[in-house]
Amino acid sequence: MKTVNANGARIPQLGFGTFRMPENEVLSILPKALQSGFTHADTAQIYENEAAVGEAIQQSGIARENIFLTTKVWVANYAKGAFAASVKESLRKLKTDHVDLLLLHWPNEVVPLEVQIAELNAVRERGLTKHIGVSNFNTALMTEAVRLSSAPLATNQVEYHPFLDQTKVLEATATYGMALTAYYAMAGGKVPNDPLLKEIGEKHGKSAAQVALRWLIQQPDVVALTKTATEARLAENLAVFDFALTADEMMRIHKLARPDGRIVSPDGLAPAWDGAA
Ligand SMILES: NC(=O)c1ccc[n+]([C@@H]2O[C@H](COP(=O)([O-])OP(=O)(O)OC[C@H]3O[C@@H](n4cnc5c(N)ncnc54)[C@H](OP(=O)(O)O)[C@@H]3O)[C@@H](O)[C@H]2O)c1
Repeated sequence: MKTVNANGARIPQLGFGTFRMPENEVLSILPKALQSGFTHADTAQIYENEAAVGEAIQQSGIARENIFLTTKVWVANYAKGAFAASVKESLRKLKTDHVDLLLLHWPNEVVPLEVQIAELNAVRERGLTKHIGVSNFNTALMTEAVRLSSAPLATNQVEYHPFLDQTKVLEATATYGMALTAYYAMAGGKVPNDPLLKEIGEKHGKSAAQVALRWLIQQPDVVALTKTATEARLAENLAVFDFALTADEMMRIHKLARPDGRIVSPDGLAPAWDGAA
């Protein structure tokens, strides 16, 4: 699969997401996803399915070194004494001695960012992860994280789909040589039914979901996550490398962005988001 080079991390452009997937679902779909051609899997400590992800990777028969594996440290584990232990516990569950990418899941002010970034760098130096990054950071926090980190940050994983303008985060990731990893590509179910995405899809013989995924990965240094528990959708969501959107189609999709397009903004976790450009 095509990769994005994010400060040396070669991240496969499509990743298989496992949010809100109970362990039995992970065990039934993830081996098939990996066998179908996904080479990148995304989990998190808070998803409580890391053990199933590790098991599914083993069951898939695909060699661990051929899979780009990401997990995320939960905010309750950011303190100095807890961080590395939580990562070791994640690795035990994932049945591997390292992940490819380790992210801070959400910003959190209880533990100073300086400590969080130092812990992230320390586990990287111990070889527990190849690359490090952040998730749900606004551009001010990204700038601060980049300044504090001795190793380069590979990505900021954020909500991104046609209904949300992320120009400011994209400008920041470009400045820092990072990828933007897009989550919620289906926009909570809005994407598959959108008339414009359907119309553009008809011209290419593709679904609205495929058009949205293509729109994401056609942008420079954007990686898209996609989650499905439906076997038939694995092939559909992977089939986004055999067509291209025109510049006009890309622009028309960008124009779907709305000021209220953001869906994921949990109280107590979300930072002051950057507005539209
Ligand atoms: N860093 C963070 O804070 C954060 C937050 C949210 C998500 N994430 C990551 O990003 C991943 C993706 O986000 P998400 O889980 O919301 O996934 P998503 O891919 O945006 O949406 C998944 C939903 O869309 C449906 N779907 C998938 N493919 C489809 C298709 N081709 N046509 C129509 N419907 C389709 C799925 O249904 P079925 O499953 O029934 O097929 C599911 O209901 C997560 O799994 C997680 O790894 C990270």
